[in-house]
Amino acid sequence: MSLLDQARAVRENAHAPYSNFKVGAAIRSASGRVFVGCNVENVAYPEGTCAEAGAIAAMCAAGEYQIAAVAVIADSPDPVPPCGGCRQKLAEFADGAVVVTLATTDGAQLETTVGDLLPGAFGADHMARS
Ligand code: THU
Repeated sequence: MSLLDQARAVRENAHAPYSNFKVGAAIRSASGRVFVGCNVENVAYPEGTCAEAGAIAAMCAAGEYQIAAVAVIADSPDPVPPCGGCRQKLAEFADGAVVVTLATTDGAQLETTVGDLLPGAFGADHMARS
């Protein structure tokens, strides 16, 4: 199954009763393993988590820390872009050249990169004097 199809499948498990906006994410790590995540909302709204965050957490829990590719899918009019916080979370574990496939459930697809999603990213280099 393709990375995007794995994101499509896990999206079905999203817990999104408040937004009704289900998101699925799949990450291929450097070893080739795939980790998936879906958004998990909470009645205390800020406690909800994004699909990308779930996939990243699963990757780290498995002892892997290098992202090789990402796919994100939702039932949106245009291919769904990761939120700002998730862009920073992806950048923690991915080189700027890593491809992120954004998709809609009805077949639209857009390829971008972690670097293009987060230009001028804050990184460890910015703390060089600390
Ligand atoms: N959401 C994600 O899971 N990933 C994104 O990158 C965009 C937003 C979720 C969070 C919330 O559960 C719902 O979509 C509406 O914002």
